[in-house]
Amino acid sequence: MDLNLKGKVAVITAASKGIGKSIAEGLLNEGVKVLISSSNRENLRQLDAEFSEKGFTGYSLEVCDLNLKSDIERLFAKAILEFDTVDILINNCGGPKAGAPSSMNDSDWQKGYEHTLLSAVLLTSLAVEEMKKNKWGRIINITSLSVKQPIDNLTLSNAFRSALTAYAKTLSLEVGQYNITVNNIMPGYTLTERLDHLAAIKADERGIDKAEILREMAENVPLKRLGKPEEIANITVFLCSDAAAYINGTSIPADGGLIKTI
Ligand SMILES: NC(=O)c1ccc[n+]([C@@H]2O[C@H](COP(=O)([O-])OP(=O)(O)OC[C@H]3O[C@@H](n4cnc5c(N)ncnc54)[C@H](OP(=O)(O)O)[C@@H]3O)[C@@H](O)[C@H]2O)c1
Repeated sequence: MDLNLKGKVAVITAASKGIGKSIAEGLLNEGVKVLISSSNRENLRQLDAEFSEKGFTGYSLEVCDLNLKSDIERLFAKAILEFDTVDILINNCGGPKAGAPSSMNDSDWQKGYEHTLLSAVLLTSLAVEEMKKNKWGRIINITSLSVKQPIDNLTLSNAFRSALTAYAKTLSLEVGQYNITVNNIMPGYTLTERLDHLAAIKADERGIDKAEILREMAENVPLKRLGKPEEIANITVFLCSDAAAYINGTSIPADGGLIKTI
């Protein structure tokens, strides 16, 4: 299927590793020009080395700490300076702090809000103005299966990704008239550093091996395995395309069937 994405301009956040990195790679494979960001310059340098080695061109890198409004504004300004516009925005973020509701203090809530919800709202507001001019746009938020089925101990993720989902739906009602679609992808258990970290926390709590926790997670998935980052990337890239032009205002799971709803 020709996704017809060649020459489009995408901005992606939190993309030095894991799911974000795979999405950046998927978009580059389709000939999209991609501004890739994360909060750590060294991680971006390593990504640059890897992508250059793979022969990718047409991407640019920028440090953007999603907890800093000034970084978000600078990221958007760089996209315009370098690529003239923004057609596609992928709002990804690092996982917010894990913990039970009783363990969260005011500062945790504030940071979780800024990182998981406000950053996406700020960047989206900037990008939408460009997309309106182009009469074409794709906004995709990487959320979590926790939106449909809250996960024990992930208080901030459960709360703020649900809020982001509600915001996305509301935005889709406003910007659909400009041929801009707004959707969310809900990854299930996907093998990245984040999942490894969460498995390590659980393993410590239960006094067992991390590998055992990862095995249990896989066993809970109907497909009996963990997801791969590129499997989240594939559906994300498809949603960016014209082939997905009539999919709007929704959340799509990429979870191997893990969410127990119909
Ligand atoms: N993996 C899963 O099973 C799973 C399931 C459901 C939802 N999710 C969600 O999907 C998202 C991506 O997860 P992942 O598994 O790909 O995580 P990951 O492998 O840990 O990657 C996280 C990315 O976030 C970046 N990041 C961290 N703090 C940041 C900040 N303050 N500002 C900007 N970027 C920042 C990291 O780069 P730097 O350190 O270079 O900044 C890294 O590139 C997360 O929000 C996660 O909670 C993951």
